[in-house]
Amino acid sequence: MGELKNDRFLRALLKEPVDTTPVWMMRQAGRYLPEYRELRSKAGDFLSLCKNAEFACEVTIQPLERFPLDAAILFSDILTIPDAMGLGLYFETGEGPRFKKIVRTEADVDALPVVKTTSDLDYVLNAVTTIRRELNGRVPLIGFSGSPWTLATYMVEGGSSKDFRHVKAMMYDKPEIMHQLLEKLTLSVIDYLNEQIKAGAQAVQIFDTWGGNLSHAAYQTFSLQYMKKIIDGLIREHDGRKVPVIMFTKGGGQWLPQMADAGADALGLDWTTDIGVARGLVGDKVALQGNMDPSVLYASPATIRNEVESILSAYGSGSGHVFNLGHGIHQFVDPEHAKAFVEAVHELSPKYHQS
Ligand code: CP3
Repeated sequence: MGELKNDRFLRALLKEPVDTTPVWMMRQAGRYLPEYRELRSKAGDFLSLCKNAEFACEVTIQPLERFPLDAAILFSDILTIPDAMGLGLYFETGEGPRFKKIVRTEADVDALPVVKTTSDLDYVLNAVTTIRRELNGRVPLIGFSGSPWTLATYMVEGGSSKDFRHVKAMMYDKPEIMHQLLEKLTLSVIDYLNEQIKAGAQAVQIFDTWGGNLSHAAYQTFSLQYMKKIIDGLIREHDGRKVPVIMFTKGGGQWLPQMADAGADALGLDWTTDIGVARGLVGDKVALQGNMDPSVLYASPATIRNEVESILSAYGSGSGHVFNLGHGIHQFVDPEHAKAFVEAVHELSPKYHQS
């Protein structure tokens, strides 16, 4: 598989020197792009896009055709794992994800298989291979998974939730059942990410979207502990190159010192923490990825540029920063504003990398 033409994303994750701060956007492929909406309607629905390698590849590359991004992210979803466990994922328009089967009891948890990626999720691996071939070394490809806790919230609630009523009741009342569920998910995620790496993913990100909803103690026990176990089980070098791991707990800024010891190469930061303060807390242990409020992209390009400059200056000089939004790009953002964001990072950051 050919040489990487642009490796500043991988270099920054490993805190190696770079000329410019690399940038990508969480959810960079998606509904804010008219060409995405067009392909989705051709495919029929979102899951059909994910399950067809040619479509998934095309959608992954769409944002790279518009903006000079430094990484591509596999087009898929974190909920492929519960779907492969037999829960029957579907999407109601405007309602977000839903499952036909919901996990509420010990018997429900016992009945869940551990995912075997090569047979149960081969469509994801086909997408990875196809995307790598099509990227042809242009930028690195990121693979990903949800964290066990975040996946468990969807499986126990049966979809998205505001109050996490059932999953938290299970966690507090029946912690041993919750641990059995998290254990099965952990084994599944290790297998899933390792197969993505073998198929060609050059970095991986664990999305712990709902970890920040836990109490201090519960975060360590029910989320961080399992992410650590995953990181310990991952292939860290493939094809002669390190495969960096990014751990992203949304709302996790107060746990930076503990997260920095989890074994990840980089931590994702949402916009509620100052990235300079975060850098001070994690020291040399990990790189940082983030952290502009995605809502800044509703503002004018001039305002976006100012926000980019203030985050670059808060991080300060030297490598170890991958610019990103603090969470996924919103669906009503003007693609021209996304372009202004990506270009601003490249134009304003070289001064922070002169030695
Ligand atoms: O970043 C990328 O461009 C890669 C693709 C990607 C998707 N989902 C595509 C998607 C990634 C990395 C995800 C991760 C994901 N999925 C997370 C973790 C990240 C985060 O946002 O916190 C979560 C919690 C999910 C679960 C999920 N999938 C939800 C809650 C929804 C519906 C919410 C929404 O935005 O409508 C999805 C659907 C989904 N996943 C879409 C896309 C592009 C929208 C589907 C569509 O209508 O076309």
